[in-house]
Amino acid sequence: MNFSRTLLTKLEHAGSVCALTGAGISAESGVPTFRGDNGLWSKFKPEELANFDAFIRNPALVWEWYSYRKKVMRDVRPNPGHEALVSLERMVADFTLITQNVDNLHRRAGNKNVLELHGNIERSYCIDCGRFVHDVVIAEKGRVPACEHCGGLVRPDVVWFGEFLPQEIFADAEQAARRADVFLCIGTSAVVYPAASLSLIAKEAGSYVVEINVERTDLSSRFDETVLGKAGDILPSLIREFRSLKEPHP
Ligand code: OAD
Repeated sequence: MNFSRTLLTKLEHAGSVCALTGAGISAESGVPTFRGDNGLWSKFKPEELANFDAFIRNPALVWEWYSYRKKVMRDVRPNPGHEALVSLERMVADFTLITQNVDNLHRRAGNKNVLELHGNIERSYCIDCGRFVHDVVIAEKGRVPACEHCGGLVRPDVVWFGEFLPQEIFADAEQAARRADVFLCIGTSAVVYPAASLSLIAKEAGSYVVEINVERTDLSSRFDETVLGKAGDILPSLIREFRSLKEPHP
């Protein structure tokens, strides 16, 4: 694969690298994306499944949907795109992985410095006392998990429409974006804010911003480069080229 000389040189000299990922990186693992012809939001209504009022109205329905998604996500495995980002973390002194995905695949692949902007489907918490619950299993359809401490309603720890992102995590992501020499924007349609703003924050702070996607997005023209193709092909190939630059030449 032909990467630009500028990208490889920037990467070679980068002290700090940041990657922002979206549903596209997990598509090759078999996790459906949100937008596009086969995206989740073309089949399901976010207003009935991914907002707090809907949850209060019908927690069993919302839990049915999240139990299904949890199962899908548990049954899949990290792909070469995820694995390449683990290698990148090992090769760069300051590496931050910011993800919009709730599927836990970056942690399962082995990345350590992961900022989950939209939560993690493996975690849940009580809406009354705030305690975290790690392993919610819905044995029967129609059942809703209750907090074992206070009896309150337990919800998935994911950010729903109309909710704020976890503020500390977003602040850390913003800082990482600002100090990144190279910022990779991978497999995201870049339409959901404030996550999408991180690439622009990085660009404004002087980072070299590269998009990796199967198609161009609304923000492509604002980036330094767009590399078109599957994350599972492009990222391993980028790491191979990067590694060969780092290795001492005879
Ligand atoms: P989208 O479904 O909006 O976009 C997925 C992107 O991945 C698209 O731009 C695709 O072109 C691209 N893509 C698909 N397959 C790919 C592949 N193999 N390699 C590289 N790119 C690929 O997903 P997100 O941008 O992640 O929010 O969506 C952002 C947020 O919207 C989600 O976090 C979710 C959703 O509503 C919440 O749940 C809060």
